[in-house]
Amino acid sequence: MNELRNTQIEFKRIGASLGAEVSGIDLAEPLDEATFDALVQAHGEHEVLIFRDQDITTEQQKAFGRRFGKLTVHPFAPSDGDAPELIVFDNNADNPPWGTDIWHSDETFRAEPPMGTMLRALIVPDVGGDTMFTSMSAAFEGLSDRLQNFISGLEAVHDFKPFRQLFSGDTEGRRSLRDFEERYPPAVHPVVRLHPVTGKKVLFVNPQFTVAIQGMEESESRGLLDQLFRQAMVPEYQIRHQWRPNTLVFWDNRAVQHYAIHDYYPQRRRMERVTIKGDRPVGVEVEENSASVKSQKSNRTAGDKAQHGAHKPINVGETEGA
Ligand code: OGA
Ligand code: MN
Repeated sequence: MNELRNTQIEFKRIGASLGAEVSGIDLAEPLDEATFDALVQAHGEHEVLIFRDQDITTEQQKAFGRRFGKLTVHPFAPSDGDAPELIVFDNNADNPPWGTDIWHSDETFRAEPPMGTMLRALIVPDVGGDTMFTSMSAAFEGLSDRLQNFISGLEAVHDFKPFRQLFSGDTEGRRSLRDFEERYPPAVHPVVRLHPVTGKKVLFVNPQFTVAIQGMEESESRGLLDQLFRQAMVPEYQIRHQWRPNTLVFWDNRAVQHYAIHDYYPQRRRMERVTIKGDRPVGVEVEENSASVKSQKSNRTAGDKAQHGAHKPINVGETEGA
C-alpha cells in the first residue's frame, strides 16, 4: 500500500513516430494506481514501451501483464500445459526462429486481437536479433487525404494462414485443421480502426494475416493491400529495437506492427512472452460517399457491421493544406 512506490516513473521518447524507454520503475513490485494510469496513457501515446534492466521472474512478468487485462493463450504456439499463457521462444542451432520475420500485428485472425504483447529477453545473441516496430497511426497519418478517405469504412478479412502449414496432410492433420477453422473463422476488422485510448486512427492491416478487402475485386483488393502493406515499411514510421538480457518490451498491438529480424541463427536467443486480451476493433465513422454506396452492395456477413456506424455522408471536398 505504499502509494509513492513507483512515482519516479519517466518516459524518454526514442523514435520520431513511436517508442519510449521507461525508467524509475521496478516491475518486480506491484504497481500503484497512479503509475498504472501513467503506463496506460504512455502505452497509447508511445505505442512501444521499453523497460531495461528488469531482472524479474516469469511470474512477475505475468503479474505485470495481468494488470492490463486477461492473459490469452495463442492457439498455435506450443506452450507448457501448466502455463499456457506463457510463450517461450528458445531459438538456437536446432530450433531456428520461425514465423516472426514478417511484418505483423499479433493474432489479428482473432475476432478480438490482443491489445498488447509483453516480450522479455533472457538470452540474446552477440549480434543480431533486433525487433523492428512501425507505427500504424503514423502510417495512416502519412497517407494522402484521398486514400485516407477511401479506406475509411472498408473492412478486411484476417486469416491464420501462416499457421496452416503446421498441420500435416494426413486425415488426422486435416481433421485438426478443420477444428481450428471452426474455432477461428476468418475475422473481419475495419481497415482503419479508432484507438480506444488515444482516439487516433490506425491503419489495421498486416501482411501476415490480412488476406482480402471486403467488397472489392480480387485484383483491386490485392493491389490496395500491397499499397497499404508498403506504407508500414516506410523507415520514418519505424524504430529498430536492440535487446539486452532483462529488457521487457510492451507494445500496443492495436497501433503497431513488428518484425523479428532472423539474422542471428545459429546463435541462441531466448525470450518469454505474455499476451493481453483486447477488444473487438472499432472502425471510424464514415459518411456516405461513392465508396460506401458500393460497399453496401458487397456481400457483407449479416450482423457484422452495426457497430461501425451506418455510413453517413462524407465531406470529400474537405482536404487539409499540404
Ligand atoms: C512476438 C514476436 C518478436 C521477436 O512475440 O509476437 O513477433 O523479436 N516476437 O521475437
Ligand atoms: Mn509477433
